[in-house]
Amino acid sequence: MKDTILVIGSSGQIGTELVNELRSVYGNSNVIASDIRQKKSDILVESGPFEPLDVMDKELLYKIVKKYQVTQVYLLAALLSAKAEQNIELAWKLNMSSLSYVLDLAKEKYIKKIFWPSSIAVFGTTTPSIMTPQHTIMEPNTVYGISKLAGERWCEYYHQKFKVDVRSVRYPGLIGWRSQPGGGTTDYAVHIFYEAIKNKSYTSFLSENTTLPMMYMSDAIRATLEIMDAVAEHIKIRSSYNIAGLSFSPKELAQEIKRYIPKFEMHYKSDYRQAIADSWPQNIDDSSAFKDWNWKSSVNLQEMTSDMLKNIKKLITE
Ligand code: SER
Repeated sequence: MKDTILVIGSSGQIGTELVNELRSVYGNSNVIASDIRQKKSDILVESGPFEPLDVMDKELLYKIVKKYQVTQVYLLAALLSAKAEQNIELAWKLNMSSLSYVLDLAKEKYIKKIFWPSSIAVFGTTTPSIMTPQHTIMEPNTVYGISKLAGERWCEYYHQKFKVDVRSVRYPGLIGWRSQPGGGTTDYAVHIFYEAIKNKSYTSFLSENTTLPMMYMSDAIRATLEIMDAVAEHIKIRSSYNIAGLSFSPKELAQEIKRYIPKFEMHYKSDYRQAIADSWPQNIDDSSAFKDWNWKSSVNLQEMTSDMLKNIKKLITE
């Protein structure tokens, strides 16, 4: 039977790129994009089906799944770390109820496979911050991190109790040019490129030496497709896998950008997001993902920077 895929949160930073990629693999009409909001000029709407969906509307979710006979769900809708701190009730409700509805869809055998992203936000100040192991102390102190850690436990529980085929990776900060990030602590690493090109100056809301795990979007999309394509028996970890890409600080990124834009000036003014960043690891040990499904990142800081600058310049001048 052919697969029909529903992407929930398709207008977001990951969804925008993932829908394009999935449509090229599975065919446009077999990938249903859905989001609470539709972008004004939404290429995803033009290239295939789009359904408006507030994922907290369980009935509508079930209706869409039945209408298209969906077999796989990618659940990307969530409130990210910084936004979640400003609306803790909504963040908890949205992040948890959406996962619980989708896990139930699989338990009740409407769908066969789920992708649900976790995050480096599951770690906290008591976690070893250098080469953070797959299995380690996890005491997150943000609502987002708490929701992701709880979500990981639910995924593993549904897998063990009900044989639900749910797969997950802990995304680091994601950097891409096709879409904007939506309220995370690592967003500076995208904004900086736009400001460098437009104004030759950027004020970072994280301090200069705040090193965080990051990943270029092409690697993140590939990790997502690879874990979903892997043979089920190989996916030994059903909570979520550590995956690593790059690790850099605002200062290191600024230095790299200066190689292309010598007049670029970086300023620093930390805000409430600094404390969130300070609770997260600096880099990640992803050897379990390598061992189980052969995960390897491929884009380094130089390649990412030149690709971002090239494409954003094009976007801005078009
Ligand atoms: N990029 C995310 C955030 O900053 C991490 O999952 O919230």
